[in-house]
Amino acid sequence: MKSEQIHPIKALSGGLELPGDKSISHRYAMLAALADGTSELRNFAAARDCHSTLGCMKALGAAVKVEGSSVRVTGNGLRGLKSSWRTLDAENSGTTIRLLSGILSGQSFTTKITGDASLQKRPMKRVMNPLREMGADIRGRDENFPPLEIRGGKLRAIDYQMPMASAQVKSAVLLAGLYAEGETSVTEPAATRDHTELALLEFDAPVRKQGRTTFIRGLAAGNRNAALRPMSAEVPGDLSSAVFFIAAASLLPESDLYIGNVGLNPTRAAILDWFKEMGAALTIASVQTKHGELVGDLSIKGAQLKGGVVSGDLVPLLIDELPMLAALGPYTEQGIEIRDAGELRVKESDRIAALAENLKRMGATVEERPDGLRVEGRSAGKLHGAEIDPRGDHRIAMAFAVAGLAASGETRILNSECAAVSYPTFFEELRRLAVA
Ligand code: S3P
Repeated sequence: MKSEQIHPIKALSGGLELPGDKSISHRYAMLAALADGTSELRNFAAARDCHSTLGCMKALGAAVKVEGSSVRVTGNGLRGLKSSWRTLDAENSGTTIRLLSGILSGQSFTTKITGDASLQKRPMKRVMNPLREMGADIRGRDENFPPLEIRGGKLRAIDYQMPMASAQVKSAVLLAGLYAEGETSVTEPAATRDHTELALLEFDAPVRKQGRTTFIRGLAAGNRNAALRPMSAEVPGDLSSAVFFIAAASLLPESDLYIGNVGLNPTRAAILDWFKEMGAALTIASVQTKHGELVGDLSIKGAQLKGGVVSGDLVPLLIDELPMLAALGPYTEQGIEIRDAGELRVKESDRIAALAENLKRMGATVEERPDGLRVEGRSAGKLHGAEIDPRGDHRIAMAFAVAGLAASGETRILNSECAAVSYPTFFEELRRLAVA
């Protein structure tokens, strides 16, 4: 196992372009494999998770060619997937297994899909319930966990009121909806990322939105000629990866960082408003729309951060950024408090426990709660370097690397290669931009 040593630095300075957005890359890869012809996806995510999706689509019969960050995916139409003789491997990726479950529910064959030890502990009932209602036969270990066996078949449209705010559940139902007889609708209790809806539109699927409800008309059921149109697109840089650099630059007073070509989809960009409210010196420029997704450039300078409380409807909009916010807590004036975020306990690791434990190792004052945590601010004392156990979770590893940049002494991130799940070159980029 590799580890990374992090030393205090003065600033982050220079320019950075990020690998493609993970969420968008998953969706483009899946829809391209269902389209009629070849899609060309540039700046495709380097994230291991998205390559797990490509591996699954390949096992299901799509042609996949990867050249650096460009990926060509050739699909054989909505009915063109073939059964895979081997169990599909989603590795560490919840998005892969949950979204693919929707697609696999509409196939006329049976598929087994599983993942690594972490994924095998993550709840799948949330997608099994609506997909069963649509007519799929899905079995899982203890009725909830991977491996899943999905016996697809004829699906019926449903009107699904999601009991939880989850983009993955919404997406699984919409993707199954492509195969259902009639119009499927999904209503979410609070806004979640809408990349599936935007990608479906780009691939020419009949999807529409009304408030919190998204509708999709089944294409593959009766209409033999219905098809998704392949597309050529450049994936915007991953804002959730940018956040680690925004946080690091903000922490260090002499920083001057520029990040080009970042995805700014409003269902993801609440984190930028949050940073601004906290007093970050962040500016956004050159905003444009590409394939329905907003993209722009960011510049960040050092600032004093205020801190605050994240709760309620803000939680699903900041869900992947909460580890970084919590690890920034000790550097803020008021500290950071996270509430209503029990979901963090069933991510790639129990993120609440992982944050509390590692923050304490660095000397922070933390109160762990069932649905979040409270991290005391600057008045509770300065952080010191420590050995960090990220529990195999990429976002925990990256969040503590950032926290270590402004602590005293050396921080060692154990099992640091887990960062590759979302950002294989994270530590290299951090070293390149660091001013000692
Ligand atoms: C994702 C949705 C979120 C997020 C995950 C990616 C997606 O999960 O945490 O990293 O691409 O749809 P939930 O929808 O389960 O909250």
